[in-house]
Amino acid sequence: MTNNVSMETIVSLCKRRGFVFPSSEIYGGLASCWDYGPFGVELKRNIKDAWWKTIVQERDDVTGLDTSILMHPRVWTASGHVDSFADSMVECKSCHLRWRAEELRDEKCPKCGGKLTKPRMFNLMFKTFMGPVEDEASTIYLRPETAQGMFVNFENVVAISRKKLPLGIAQIGKSFRNEITPGNFVFRTREFEHMEMEYFVKPGDDKHWFDYWVKERFNWYIGLGIKKENLRLRQHSKEELAHYAKDCYDIEYLFPMGWAELEGIANRGNYDLTQHAKFSGKDLSYYDNESGQRYIPYIIEPSAGVERSFLAFLIDSYREEVVGGEKRVVLSLHPSLAPIKVAVLPLSRNEKLTPLAKEIYGQLRSSFMTYYDDTQSIGRRYRRQDETGTLFCVTIDFESLEDHQVTIRDRDSLAQIRVPIEKLEQTLQTKLSGEPFDASPLWATREK
Ligand code: GLY
Repeated sequence: MTNNVSMETIVSLCKRRGFVFPSSEIYGGLASCWDYGPFGVELKRNIKDAWWKTIVQERDDVTGLDTSILMHPRVWTASGHVDSFADSMVECKSCHLRWRAEELRDEKCPKCGGKLTKPRMFNLMFKTFMGPVEDEASTIYLRPETAQGMFVNFENVVAISRKKLPLGIAQIGKSFRNEITPGNFVFRTREFEHMEMEYFVKPGDDKHWFDYWVKERFNWYIGLGIKKENLRLRQHSKEELAHYAKDCYDIEYLFPMGWAELEGIANRGNYDLTQHAKFSGKDLSYYDNESGQRYIPYIIEPSAGVERSFLAFLIDSYREEVVGGEKRVVLSLHPSLAPIKVAVLPLSRNEKLTPLAKEIYGQLRSSFMTYYDDTQSIGRRYRRQDETGTLFCVTIDFESLEDHQVTIRDRDSLAQIRVPIEKLEQTLQTKLSGEPFDASPLWATREK
């Protein structure tokens, strides 16, 4: 256990509070496949939106793309994945479990101690067939990275965007890898979502942009609340580099099972465009107006997994503390990541309170992801909202019917302020944009 929280605690919270469920659970589940529940889907969307905002929306040198999962099979020959995208695998001669050779410390099966076969290479791409005939000619692959969709569209994007190099193309989408040993909850799964950006640069400028993107990406996690001491950079050794990479840094996070990759930033050199030019017969060189030179661009690639970020944000924001003599579990997620921004909680399910509470709920919903809850005691409802990281609880009580004011309670400071209903939305917007709760002139009480 690191970070004071175990993986079991996170898995149990995810199930209990509707973040993540085992896939096909009523059939006994499917190994390493997960479904994202009502709160998980919001957190995932918020992570992707935050990435897109930083990488595409706020930059004028990056443009978005969405390419198909199924691609021409020659893409994967050109890319080197058919020949080289493989892990070295061994099999236990007794229990027949398979292991990645690099994971093993000695030459015995970690499960039963049995003897192992010699290592053999196992390609990680999922194969399937396109059309009604199942033969070699109709074999295609589920993409193991979204990157190739961006390389094969390089010419299209340059032509349409009228941008000069350096130029980035970004995409978020599903990728598939037939991992030998998936595990650690959503950390290593066979189906996952990639957030990738391919940054095309002039040869010779690649080192500068590589360093730039390593820093940018590291700081992105810190900006969204990950504690700096739980992040580190690790450069790949020569033996570890992927077949296309000249250099690569992993941003690692201190997960409960130890340090592990959160995101990789690779210098892919001119490998990809050179290969696609060769295999497709198309000239993929770029004419640089400024220098009058024609060259094959180099590519710097920050490549992150949505699910790994999801797990890291959950772990890093998880806190247990005592409030009013009782344990409270709280996810102090960054405001932009919190699945629910506002919970509307009438003091009780009462025929006088319900109409006003429903009216307020109806008004807030178009501006914030809002949740309505009128079951159980207010204390228990606060605790439930804390566990899913809801930023603000708005409580409607009997006084509200008289003075047209409601109470806003802040997740982190537990401060409570009373505001006129007509100022509620504006106050919530101001708080969401970062005004500290305790600095408010309206600050009144604090949950004890
Ligand atoms: N595109 C980088 C990776 O798949 O790891």
